[in-house]
Amino acid sequence: MKLTLIALGLVPALAAGSSFEYRSTHRALGRRAVKNAAQLAGITDANQECKWYEDKTLAGMNFPKQSHIASILDGDNDAWGVWNDIQKSGIIPSHVQVKGSASADHRGISQDAQSSYDKSDPDCWWSNTQCTKPKSKKIPEDIYKCDEPDTWGLTFDDGPNCSHNEFYNFLQQNKLRATLFYIGTYVVAYPYQAQRGITDGHDICVHTWSHRYMTTLSNEQVFAELYYTAKAIKAVAGITPRCWRPPFGDVDDRVRAIAAGLGMRTILWQEDTDDWSIDEGTPRSKIVGNYKKINSKADQMSPIVLAHELSQNTMGVFQQMYSSVKQAYKNIVPITACMNVTNPYPEDITYSTFEDFVGGNIDPKNKPDISTIKVDASASFKPVALSKQTGKGSYASPGGSSGGSGSNSGNNSASSSASSSASNSSSSSSSSDASNSTDSQSASSAADASGSSASSTSSSQDAASASGASSLSVTVLYFTLTAAIVAGAFL
Ligand SMILES: *[C@@H]1O[C@H](CO)[C@@H](O)[C@H](O)[C@H]1NC(C)=O
Ligand SMILES: *[C@@H]1O[C@H](CO)[C@@H](O)[C@H](O)[C@H]1NC(C)=O
Ligand SMILES: *[C@@H]1O[C@H](CO)[C@@H](O)[C@H](O)[C@H]1NC(C)=O
Ligand SMILES: *[C@@H]1O[C@H](CO)[C@@H](O)[C@H](O)[C@H]1NC(C)=O
Ligand SMILES: *[C@@H]1O[C@H](CO)[C@@H](O)[C@H](O)[C@H]1NC(C)=O
Repeated sequence: MKLTLIALGLVPALAAGSSFEYRSTHRALGRRAVKNAAQLAGITDANQECKWYEDKTLAGMNFPKQSHIASILDGDNDAWGVWNDIQKSGIIPSHVQVKGSASADHRGISQDAQSSYDKSDPDCWWSNTQCTKPKSKKIPEDIYKCDEPDTWGLTFDDGPNCSHNEFYNFLQQNKLRATLFYIGTYVVAYPYQAQRGITDGHDICVHTWSHRYMTTLSNEQVFAELYYTAKAIKAVAGITPRCWRPPFGDVDDRVRAIAAGLGMRTILWQEDTDDWSIDEGTPRSKIVGNYKKINSKADQMSPIVLAHELSQNTMGVFQQMYSSVKQAYKNIVPITACMNVTNPYPEDITYSTFEDFVGGNIDPKNKPDISTIKVDASASFKPVALSKQTGKGSYASPGGSSGGSGSNSGNNSASSSASSSASNSSSSSSSSDASNSTDSQSASSAADASGSSASSTSSSQDAASASGASSLSVTVLYFTLTAAIVAGAFL
């Protein structure tokens, strides 16, 4: 019963994203659709916010199927060019295998893959060992904490949520800026919601196209999951993201390397609210307890904290807990501020240093305005490898104008090493057999539904180190949900 309720809650999001029938029905019913971000931002009724609309410009662009595992689109020469360059650069370590078997469903790490993994952690596989320091010298360390004392790194995954206005209003009213990790599928489904993220002054990073376990995907799929999400964000929000967070934290040196080749720094977390689990029946009081535990650590650490823009529950519990967080931590800042990343994007938008931010300059200079922001299908999207990014205050080399220090700051071997490599690694092998077909996944309607439900259900494990039993039960729950959703969607 509970499952059915959850599933029904998901139906509008799925249908809006991927069902043509649903769109036609809406047209037939003559519902008025919003036309721009400013209009959308003015709606506060959650059901109204989530009504389907279409941005004509975006509709003219090609993207992978919503909620499906992305692969490079037929005839997308730009994408092939970038991908070929990354492979040739030799950054992808050839010894790191795809995790799990060929039959992996990409929605969990099998017990087998976990238990047979070499305990010395040659791949720096976070899901197994929580490793954040790559073994490969060519890849920078993950960012997972703030270097400033008494600081809470404010991050929300899984947006843009169609019904986030009340939450974004709350952030505005409390002068909060966060790092938002957006899912490509949702950026394309809810472009005006995504535009509000940047015009409100938050910083935007990539959270993949379809929210799968990235270590289970082929090289080319990993590339496409990141590439098309960043491309969608560029077209919709006007910025080229240079940071990303792996769903479930599932990353190893192969996946990190592809992200680095695309110019994206990997960001994890140090503390986890587990807020997603309210949607699956965990009592809210448990999550309140989690927040309180993190609050109690304020004098020991400055964690980047994992929370979600996933549902009214997760957005609501943050609002409920905010005053206590504020009492516990002197500073609540986005990652740009906590790392002095003043230039997170190649575009001309400047974010505040930590000092400036806590001094009250919370808005980036030259950010786009909600009354004029438009989707730009012709926006040039040209990713540059982390190793080739120059200039201070980038994710490749954080530290703002004063020059950074600290364990995660920039001038490590990764940001300075040239991308020229000794060996043209064989890492491309696993993708070389990928034909240019986009149909790498069989397209049943069940698969259609599964993506979105994965994004929701499975955020579940953003946190968990995917250990066997819990992983299995989530998988079972996942299939139950999928079945319920499919049933619901076609009623
Ligand atoms: C894929 O398509 C691109 C251009 O459309 C082409 O250059 C490339 O060789 C193709 N790759 C394969 C594996 O067919
Ligand atoms: C956003 O939140 C609403 C309300 O909790 C939920 O129904 C919806 O599925 C969520 N997801 C997206 C992508 O909007
Ligand atoms: C950020 O910059 C300030 C000076 O504006 C400096 O004191 C601080 O150490 C820097 N922090 C990091 C993490 O780079
Ligand atoms: C940063 O790296 C470059 C290139 O390796 C090196 O020349 C320079 O001295 C380094 N700077 C610092 C502050 O370590
Ligand atoms: C690696 O590949 C590049 C481009 O294909 C080529 O120019 C270079 O000679 C190759 N290097 C080695 C060591 O094979």
